[in-house]
Amino acid sequence: MTSAHAGHGGHGEHNGEHSGRTSPSSYRSHSSHNSRNVGTPPGAWPLAGHAAALARAPLDVLTSLPEYGDLVELRIMGRRLYFPCHPELVWQVLTDDRTFDRTGPVWTTTRRMLGNGLALRCRQDHRSSRRAVQPNFHPTLLRHQAALVQEEIAATTAGWRDHQHVDLYSALVGTAVRTITRALFSARAPREAVEDIQRLAVAAIDTRLWRLAAPGPLRGLGLSRLRRLTDKISDLRRTCDAAAGDGIVARLEQAMPTASDRDIAEEVVSLYLGATDTSALAVCWALHLLTQHPAEAHRLHRELDGTLRGRAARYGDLPGLPRTGRVIAEALRLYPPAWFVLRCTTRPVELAGKRLPTGSTVVVCPAAVHRNPALYEDPAGFVPDRWLPDRAAPPRGAYVPFGAGARKCVAEHFGTAQAVLTLATLVHLWNPQATSGTDGRPAHFAAMLKPRRFVLEVHARSTPDYRSTPD
Ligand code: HEM
Repeated sequence: MTSAHAGHGGHGEHNGEHSGRTSPSSYRSHSSHNSRNVGTPPGAWPLAGHAAALARAPLDVLTSLPEYGDLVELRIMGRRLYFPCHPELVWQVLTDDRTFDRTGPVWTTTRRMLGNGLALRCRQDHRSSRRAVQPNFHPTLLRHQAALVQEEIAATTAGWRDHQHVDLYSALVGTAVRTITRALFSARAPREAVEDIQRLAVAAIDTRLWRLAAPGPLRGLGLSRLRRLTDKISDLRRTCDAAAGDGIVARLEQAMPTASDRDIAEEVVSLYLGATDTSALAVCWALHLLTQHPAEAHRLHRELDGTLRGRAARYGDLPGLPRTGRVIAEALRLYPPAWFVLRCTTRPVELAGKRLPTGSTVVVCPAAVHRNPALYEDPAGFVPDRWLPDRAAPPRGAYVPFGAGARKCVAEHFGTAQAVLTLATLVHLWNPQATSGTDGRPAHFAAMLKPRRFVLEVHARSTPDYRSTPD
């Protein structure tokens, strides 16, 4: 890729703390492991700390962090949060889950509300769940899962009319939810029961951040949904022989023979949590970037016109859609949907020369490293070609939209294929365009990096030439 992969660190205050900006040139000039610096941006308010600035312009604050150090400390409502910005520190935090674990009050509350499925487990009981879930996303299953994606995009777009205004975020989240539901449950399971489960799971994973800070009674709402969901799944398992089916739930039952109904329900919730708005957001941001960069949209149309020739994208097209893949990779660089990957230290540790006591909160924010000018040339630019295979790959820890290490996204290949197929079909057949209802600024207080409003106008593309040509 076209990145300037210079190592970086700060002048003068190695392993020390400073306030104020580190100039990008001095930031680049250090590469030794011991010369990392720790900094804090100015502008913290007495009580709220940096919370006000983060609430006002979250992405601006997060992407400016590397200017202040390799490890940046923010103060939020009396708590200190540490953001690693150097790729090696990011790598250290993501891969050393013995030290940087999913522990601490936020994770405890989240587990209390959503259960202890794979995406929420701490190290101690993570591996067994990972071993059970991982085979469900083996590349050999991708063909079948891609067919579900293709069918659900077709269902979403079936009622669209030329020039219709569509809330694409909601439409794509709906597509993703139906797709994961179909992957989870056997096609033989009664439709009504599965729809009930889908509805309860989506209600349970309402990820608005305020719920994490909500008082007890409101958290109880989440718990009662989880209980109802568990009951529904148990009913389904009793009435239809789910173990004989071909969905993920049936395979989980076989892989976890001693699992209770509640254990299985919690894995289901965790998979909904992972699948609901991740790929959907990758597609939304890619569309947002394409509407702002007509030359890139034109190049993409050329690839899609050549490969798809007037029809929706399917599994076998993936090798013929390398540019679409690069557009998704670049959208995930600029707008990584999982914008906060939260960890808590389980023992004292030195990070960038700073000693963090047990219980410190460390937040990997992929957007901060992904837009670091010391790592990427034209870091804020939309340049899909930086992902051409002949360009140097970024250093480890510099591109982490799916995380890294033992907790790296279990469904990375499925999520990527889903995003590529969806984007290809939408851009080729519908060419969505921005409207006055499109607001690409990041939504406030959202657990995921999502646009505030994403209503686009869909333009049916006329492709008679392709339709008359056989595949
Ligand atoms: C473009 C799409 C996606 C992105 C950007 C994404 C991103 C991520 C990230 C950053 C993590 C690591 C979280 C951490 O370290 O704490 C993660 C984990 C996870 N993701 Fe994804 N994800 C995507 C799609 C999906 C899909 C489609 C599913 C389910 C079908 C899924 C299920 C999960 C699960 C279960 C985990 C937890 C893995 C573990 O702890 O072992 N993700 N994802």
